Amino acid sequence: MARLAYVDGRYTPHQDAAVHVEDRGFQFSDGVYEVAVCIDSALIDLTPHLDRLERSLSELEISLPTSRRVLEMVMKELLARNGVRDGLIYIQITRGTAPRDHAFPSNAKPTLVMTTKRVDFLNQKKILDGVKIITTPDLRWDRCDIKSVSLLPNCIAKTEARRAGGDEAWLVDKSGCVTEGTSCNAWIVTHDDKLLTRATTDNILRGVTRATLMELAAEMSLTFEERPFTVEEAKSAREAFSTSATSFVTPVVQIDDTVLGNGAPGLFTSRLQDRYFEYCVNKESAL
Ligand SMILES: Cc1ncc(COP(=O)(O)O)c(C=O)c1O
Repeated sequence: MARLAYVDGRYTPHQDAAVHVEDRGFQFSDGVYEVAVCIDSALIDLTPHLDRLERSLSELEISLPTSRRVLEMVMKELLARNGVRDGLIYIQITRGTAPRDHAFPSNAKPTLVMTTKRVDFLNQKKILDGVKIITTPDLRWDRCDIKSVSLLPNCIAKTEARRAGGDEAWLVDKSGCVTEGTSCNAWIVTHDDKLLTRATTDNILRGVTRATLMELAAEMSLTFEERPFTVEEAKSAREAFSTSATSFVTPVVQIDDTVLGNGAPGLFTSRLQDRYFEYCVNKESAL
């Protein structure tokens, strides 16, 4: 079966999928995106992902190019046409095509692009065994709440992590506190058994997985606090982990040169990971 992408109203072979050379997403990173995960043909947390997409668009004065009902139909159709039961769907909406000029054009028609990918998330070695991360300065702008396609600082940090033999980078603000990962939210577990993660008012992405996990943690009677934590606190923490739609709850077993605990996923992280997996696969337990 040929892999298909969706570009502005057409299902088209993935290898031929293209947008105009003056698309503002291509020239100015003038667009936003979402990534949602599909497990056993069910899209996980679809509503909050689409709510966030609409919010990102409205913050940038870009209109949703179709109704939300049609958007959902196209997402499901593309997943079905590509035979994806377990995998992800990537949605990108840019301001559209216009003669190159920095100021927003008044009449551009937004471009809508979607791609899908098969992934067997629940058996990914890194998610199960944990990852090594590095810490590096956060070079991003002051609107990280918008899921913009402008990801160059994230790409630089992730490349730095890979070159250092790591899997992810946690970004550090000027006061020495962790903001979030390049593509995930950052969490630690303190020695008095508290979950710590930064508040979403602090110029980070309002992670959908983060929000779901907070509800699950509350159900499990775990205590959590939303506040910044330093790199040193993270290195001396009982446990650390990250969350995102595609990495679920991923244990962090090493930060820079510091191995956490015995270098294996910790108890709290494993419990939360199990509960989140259960949430994803067992629709009856969905919130
Ligand atoms: C910078 C950043 N933070 C956090 C997240 C996690 O968000 P979500 O749980 O909605 O996938 C992502 C996901 O792409 C991200 O790019």
